[in-house]
Amino acid sequence: PDTPLKVKAANNFFVGAAVSSSRLSGAYNTLITTEFSSITAENEMKMETIFTGPGTYNWTQADAIVDYAIANNINVHGHALVWHGSVPSWMNSYTGTDAEFEQLVHDYITAVVTRYSGKVTSWDVVNEAINDGGGTRNTIFLQKMGANYIAKCFQWAREADPNVLLFYNDYNTSTDISKQNDVYALIDDLKTNNVPIDGVGLQMHIKYDSPTKQELQTDVDKVLARNLKLHFSELDVRANSNDSQVLNTLTPERKLAQKMKYREVVEVYNAIPATYKYAITVWGIKDNESWILNQFNRVDWPLLFDNSFNRKVTHTGFLEGLE
Ligand code: G3I
Repeated sequence: PDTPLKVKAANNFFVGAAVSSSRLSGAYNTLITTEFSSITAENEMKMETIFTGPGTYNWTQADAIVDYAIANNINVHGHALVWHGSVPSWMNSYTGTDAEFEQLVHDYITAVVTRYSGKVTSWDVVNEAINDGGGTRNTIFLQKMGANYIAKCFQWAREADPNVLLFYNDYNTSTDISKQNDVYALIDDLKTNNVPIDGVGLQMHIKYDSPTKQELQTDVDKVLARNLKLHFSELDVRANSNDSQVLNTLTPERKLAQKMKYREVVEVYNAIPATYKYAITVWGIKDNESWILNQFNRVDWPLLFDNSFNRKVTHTGFLEGLE
């Protein structure tokens, strides 16, 4: 039988999975504790879950995930303090002044980071601030807090916890070169201004045939050149294709290509110097629960385990990447 992922990667970096508080017992518990050394809340540490109103917080689900990790000696990566994709509806319709809005965000970051100080190793502080095709994403945070909002969020997170690792997290930076340029320009700008940033999360929502290993390596090298830690933070590999060529069942060719892509990604990560390593986190456990199925509205098999919790050939690909 295959070696558990965390065993094979031991002492080099964490192998993580996105989880939810409702899926931590029974077969989930067995699988998580066997295979993974780190977890990330897929949704339950986002603003939409925690920030229920001005100055009010619901910690129930986030606490459940963090408590589970501590009880099982598992690392926690926090995701995500500020993301346009998880703004509570009350914030979207907020009628206070911009200064009051900014104070709410400041208080939120302080409250969350303080609560989990010493329990969470790292946070995605700002998620997806650059547009596809480049340019600053026009979010409610940009509108109300100004162009400096990203720097402010990192500062507030650092003030709340001097030791937690602070990440900027984004997707498609290996293939969208305009976006890539703007992401690294943003990071350079933060560093020039002594903003406390420790690492970059490359989400890695990728496809069986893209990015190429070279494209990925180029992207990775840009993180290392900036002396920042690297997290492959939301890895999944789509095996299905575009709308005109949808597969209903996974063909042997596609299955192999997908396995090889998993292997390539892990190879690239495993080859970086130890000082830059942190974790590879897969975005979910079982194929049928992946966000990909809803997002693209078609069948796919993006993860490492099938619907019955069995290891797939992608799991073997991951292990081979660690050889
Ligand atoms: O839990 C409710 C359920 O009670 C309700 O009946 C149902 C009806 O829509 O919604 C359920 O909540 C959904 C939740 O996933 C749990 O399944 C939300 O609508 C849905 O928006 C949410 O989607 C998540 C998405 O982020 C938005 O927060 C995905 O699970 C999650 O995988 C996805 O993750 C993001 C990362 O945070 C950032 N990077 C991209 C990545 C993929 O979009």
